[in-house]
Amino acid sequence: MFDTKLLRPTRENISYCAELIKSGEVVGMPTETVYGLAADAFNETAVKKIFEAKGRPADNPLIVHISDISMLKALSGDVPLLAYELAERFWPGPLTMVLPKADKVPLITSGGLDTVGIRMPKSALARELIDACEVPLAAPSANLSGSPSPTSARHVFSDLNGLIAAILDGGECEVGIESTVISLEGSGVRILRPGIITKEDLMTVSSTVFIDDGVLSEVSKDQKAASPGMKYKHYSPKARVVLVDGSLDKFLEYAKSHADENTYLMCFDGDRVPGNFNTVYYGKHSFEQAKRLFKVLRELDDLNAETVFARVPDKSGAGLAVYNRILRAAAFEIVRVGE
Ligand code: TXA
Ligand code: MG
Repeated sequence: MFDTKLLRPTRENISYCAELIKSGEVVGMPTETVYGLAADAFNETAVKKIFEAKGRPADNPLIVHISDISMLKALSGDVPLLAYELAERFWPGPLTMVLPKADKVPLITSGGLDTVGIRMPKSALARELIDACEVPLAAPSANLSGSPSPTSARHVFSDLNGLIAAILDGGECEVGIESTVISLEGSGVRILRPGIITKEDLMTVSSTVFIDDGVLSEVSKDQKAASPGMKYKHYSPKARVVLVDGSLDKFLEYAKSHADENTYLMCFDGDRVPGNFNTVYYGKHSFEQAKRLFKVLRELDDLNAETVFARVPDKSGAGLAVYNRILRAAAFEIVRVGE
């Protein structure tokens, strides 16, 4: 049991967190996407603590964070030219590349795979922490496994208080959803998890970009997934979330006949919703929706929502990432109500 410290991002506190990490502890780390739960990627005992604190299945690999391109070689002995081209264009930033793993990376970090996911975060604070640690940091999102990813230090605290040594408070995350995860296939790219770096963005570097089937469809626990994270229930508030697909009028008609006093509507900013419904709003455009989605899912828990009827976000561009997350929050439950 720890007395988890919430620390302002001063130079001293960054050094303190680095000391904790170097001594084999785990620390909540802000990044531009969501908060991560960071440990020395090469230290098996420390990485094990990440899995324990989160309650994360051992076969779900961690992303390893670097602060400088020179760190890449220690993680992957076989970095193709395309990876350098993508790094040049998108790093530091919310792009994770799955590359062949170097022997030095313990199997616990890679969930037993012979590949490792690597990203250089845009957050200056995250990179300062990595620099101070002088090792790459393995960090999954800093939530309890299955619950919505944390976009503020308070979210990390509410999930992991007592389970980790400290959290570095970098304020609210700028992006709000996790990085785009890709693997490389020759001169092509496969999107394993969509993020705000979109297929169109990636096509400026590689002309062939596939979206893996697991992005929009359900992958069962016994199926072999391109990315193990696809198999697990994700991002869910306690409430049952149902995606209600159709125009606002049809959505409200559905809500009128199916909602009770513990039902919340999850709508777009600007939707005109009659005052007798419990309603939360999660933005209008994809970037706003990305930034607010997880926060709103957590608020629904605080409100003791039992059922949530959510409007279906636009699926184009960065919207695909929002749709991918909300689809999992809804455990793929969609009702189509028409235009
Ligand atoms: O933005 C982010 O990516 C955040 C911040 C903290 O960097 N991290 C994050 O980590 O979202 P996590 O562990 O919650 O999600 C990592 C995803 C999982 O779905 C995992 O299965 C996949 O990336 N992944 C990691 N390494 C992989 C690998 N070697 N092969 C396939 N998928 C991998
Ligand atoms: Mg996660």
